[in-house]
Amino acid sequence: MSNKRILLIIGGGIAAYKCLELIRRLREQGVATRTVLTKAATHFVTPLSVGALSNEAVLTNLFNLNEEREIGHIRLSREADLIVVAPATADLLAKMAGGHANDLASTVLMATNKPVLAAPAMNPHMWLHPATQRNVAQLERDGVTIVGPDVGEMAERDEAGPGRLIEIPTLVETITTALAISPTRSGSNTSTSKKAKGSLAGRHVLITAGPTHEPIDPVRYIANRSSGKQGYAIAAAARDAGANVTLISGPVTLADPDDITVRHIETAQEMLEATKAALPADIAIFTAAVADWRVDGKTNSKIKKKKSGAPDLSLIENPDILKTVAKKRKGRPTLVIGFAAETDAVVKFGTKKLKAKGADWIVANDVSATTGIMGGDRNTVHLITSNGVEDWPDMAKEDVAKRIITQAAKTLSARIKAGSK
Ligand code: CTP
Repeated sequence: MSNKRILLIIGGGIAAYKCLELIRRLREQGVATRTVLTKAATHFVTPLSVGALSNEAVLTNLFNLNEEREIGHIRLSREADLIVVAPATADLLAKMAGGHANDLASTVLMATNKPVLAAPAMNPHMWLHPATQRNVAQLERDGVTIVGPDVGEMAERDEAGPGRLIEIPTLVETITTALAISPTRSGSNTSTSKKAKGSLAGRHVLITAGPTHEPIDPVRYIANRSSGKQGYAIAAAARDAGANVTLISGPVTLADPDDITVRHIETAQEMLEATKAALPADIAIFTAAVADWRVDGKTNSKIKKKKSGAPDLSLIENPDILKTVAKKRKGRPTLVIGFAAETDAVVKFGTKKLKAKGADWIVANDVSATTGIMGGDRNTVHLITSNGVEDWPDMAKEDVAKRIITQAAKTLSARIKAGSK
């Protein structure tokens, strides 16, 4: 059993009740939880229920003399191995990013010298709001680990998008992993010091990978043969070059790479939302094999066979994620790289896509069945830019990834230099 302790700061959102489950699961892992509830959080969970589950102090008010005498806010923030903010509401994130200290939760966060992990949860519009995205980017720069949010249906029935609190088992796993590493923010955090070096140190690289699944009904979906291997290899290469990496992944059988923020999605629409939520980025690389179409409408029941024959599936086009990002007027990543999986006239179609999508580079490859590239470990690509076409030899996907990242880092630094003149 571990003798670790976290300080859990519960924000005032509908997801606050899920923290009861979090406390219970952490207790099973031998992790003790002291809790601070914001004033708003007390509308969603009571100090009594939290205290009953955690068997530890639950504090609510900075200016409660009794509480402060028993366990002052400095002790509270220093005696924990990790501070966890969940649900991190838009307001709480704004306070954290702005360095406010006007209640117990924000004061503890300012006074701590321990690593901080925040699990945002809010309405998708609030999450996607530029102010929230700015605050999250600032917090990440300050060394706060942001986990989630997940994409999916919200408490407000008709709302779907990024904003759901990350699933509790995933949060528990993230917390226990962080506790095992036990870095101190003021000391030498191993992952930070590792990230401080490399050609992409301090840069944010966003990568989409894998297929998307487009539901036909609750049990069937449209998919493709993408394995996600090339995208995952690029994510690892970017991380090894010192970047902060966000990997937005469709359903694949690959393990989440270490030290990379992975957002799991299923559909093209979810991939678009998660991509927008992950911006801004310095480099965006779109390796995902996004399904071009989805079934129009939503069916909550399994479609049954009928004597009249097969059902008519009406398809509508999915949003083009690469194009949406590449054509952004404000906040476009400095370098936007697309992939073109073709079976014929690879370079010709790749060159067309460069222009049509507004990408800076297209990495084109032949994915005809005989090549074994789709799902395989090797790749033969052509790098298409406005300067022309480079034909790369057959290579392991890891080597293609390293070469893309090396060239991307050089181009990024040249563009940044040119931009600052
Ligand atoms: N892409 C995307 N969103 C889509 C479709 C494609 O972001 N809805 C991206 C892919 O990740 C890839 C590039 O666009 O980087 C090209 O994808 P590809 O499937 O080859 O091109 P399509 O635009 O789908 O064209 P087509 O299927 O007609 O070849």
